[in-house]
Amino acid sequence: MTKTDSAQAMRTKSPASEKVTLTFDENGQQKSYHLPLLTGNLGPKVIDIRDLYAKTGYFTYDPGFTSTASCDSAITYIDGENGILLHRGYRIEDLAEHCDFLEVAYLLLHKELPTQKQFEDYHHEISLHTLLHEQLINFYKGFRRDAHPMAIMVGVVGALSAFYHDSLDLHNPYQRELASTRLIAKIPSMAAIAYKYSIGHPFMYPHNKLKYAENFLHMMFAVPSYEYQVNPVLAKAMNRILVLHADHEQNASTSTVRLASSSGANPFACIAAGIASLWGPAHGGANEAVLNMLTEIGDKSRIPEFIKRAKDKNDPFRLMGFGHRVYKNYDPRAQVLRKSCHEVLQELGIKDEPLLGIALELEKIALDDPYFIEKKLFPNVDFYSGIILKAMGIPTSMFTVLFAVARTIGWVAQWREMIEDPIQKIGRPRQRYVGHEQRNFMPLNQR
Ligand code: CMC
Repeated sequence: MTKTDSAQAMRTKSPASEKVTLTFDENGQQKSYHLPLLTGNLGPKVIDIRDLYAKTGYFTYDPGFTSTASCDSAITYIDGENGILLHRGYRIEDLAEHCDFLEVAYLLLHKELPTQKQFEDYHHEISLHTLLHEQLINFYKGFRRDAHPMAIMVGVVGALSAFYHDSLDLHNPYQRELASTRLIAKIPSMAAIAYKYSIGHPFMYPHNKLKYAENFLHMMFAVPSYEYQVNPVLAKAMNRILVLHADHEQNASTSTVRLASSSGANPFACIAAGIASLWGPAHGGANEAVLNMLTEIGDKSRIPEFIKRAKDKNDPFRLMGFGHRVYKNYDPRAQVLRKSCHEVLQELGIKDEPLLGIALELEKIALDDPYFIEKKLFPNVDFYSGIILKAMGIPTSMFTVLFAVARTIGWVAQWREMIEDPIQKIGRPRQRYVGHEQRNFMPLNQR
C-alpha cells in the first residue's frame, strides 16, 4: 500500500461532476459558487468547502463541528440513526464477541484481521515492550497518593517523549511503528501502576504469557506475595470492554490527538493530549460520572426527582450515560455491555446489586419518557461499563483510565492514518470575531 491507499481511493470515488451551488445576494447582485460534492463509501455526502474563503471571502460557522468532516478516514464508520458501528467494515458486535483485543488493534492498525500466525507475532512484538523504563517509575512517586489517576496518566504518558528519543520522528515509518507498539504495549502497565501507587501496593511487572486484558487485570490485582489467577469470565468481560472502547471515529479526544499531531508534535505528547481530552465528563469521564450519579440517587424512589432535574432547562444536571452526539438510537456498544453486565454479576455472585437495580429502573423510565424519546437520548456505552467495572473491583477513579487504555489503539491508528495522508495539513480553525474593534491604547497611568 502506498501513502495514498484507502482514504485516497475513497476521495477519488466521488463523481467529478457532482457539485452544490451556493448563491449569495451581495449588494443587490446575485453571485453563485459551485462547490464540489464528495462521496464516501458509506454515510452522507460531503460538501468540499476548502476553497470557499479564497473564492467568496466567507468562512463557515460550526461550533462543536456538528456538520463538519475534518478528515478522510477508513478506520471506523458510525451510522448513528440506526445504531451501527463498524471497524474496517466489521460490526462491533462481532468483534466484541469473537476477538481478542490485540486482534482488533491489529485490524485498526493494519487494515485487516490477522491470521493466527500474524496474531501470535503481533502478541510477541507487543510483549517485547510492556516493561516501563525503571526511571519512568520514579515519576509516579512524585505524585500525591490521592492524585486522580487520569492526572498521573497525562503526566507519565507525556513523559514517554523524554525516554524514547528513537521513536519521536513522525516522518520516519520505522519510528512511527515503534512508537505505536510502545504506546499500545506500555499503556496497561502505566495504568495499573497509577492504581497500585494510589493504594500503596508494590507495582506488578507485566506477565507476557497472558493475553492483553488478562495481563492488565493481573497487574491491577496481583500482589507479589500470592499466586494470582485471573478469573476467565472477568478477563473475557475486560477484553470486551477494551474492544468496545477501541475507537469511535472523530470524537473529541481523537480529534485532539489529530489536531495536536498536525503541528508535527511527537506521538507520546499527542496521546497525552488525547488523554486530557478524554478525561472530561461529557466524554470518557462519563462512566465515572454515571457511577457517582447512581450512588447519589441511592434509591429507586428518588429516580423521578433526578429525571425531573435532567429535563429542567435551568438545571445543569444531565442524566449521565444517556445521549450521544452521533447515536440517535441505542448505542450498539451499550447493547453488548448490557448483556455482559449480567454475566459478570452472575459470575461474581452479586445478586441484587443496588446500583444495577437503580440503573435498570432508570433506563426503563428514561426510555419511556417523552423528553428522552423526542430528543433520541438512549443509554450509551458508559451507562453499563461503570457497573461492570465496579463489580470487578475496579475503583471509580480508574474507569476513565481504562477507557484511555482501550482508546490508545484508536488514537494511534487515527494518528498514523493522518500522518500517512498526503492531504493532511496543520489544523487551524477559523473564528467569528465578536470582540472590540481596533481602539486607542491608554498607558497604565492614564486609565
Ligand atoms: N440528560 C438530559 N438531557 C440531555 C442529555 C442528558 N444526558 N443529553 C442531551 N440532552 C438534551 C440537551 O439538553 C439538548 O436539549 P435541547 O435540545 O432542549 O437544548 C438535547 O438533548 C440535545 O443535546 P446536545 O447537548 O445538543 O447534544 P450533544 O450532541 O451536544 O451532546 C452528549 C452529547 C453526550 C455530550 C450529551 O448527550 C451528554 O452530556 N450526555 C451525558 C454525558 C455522557 O453520557 N457522555 C458520554 C458520551 S458516550 C462516550 C463517548 O463517546 O465519549
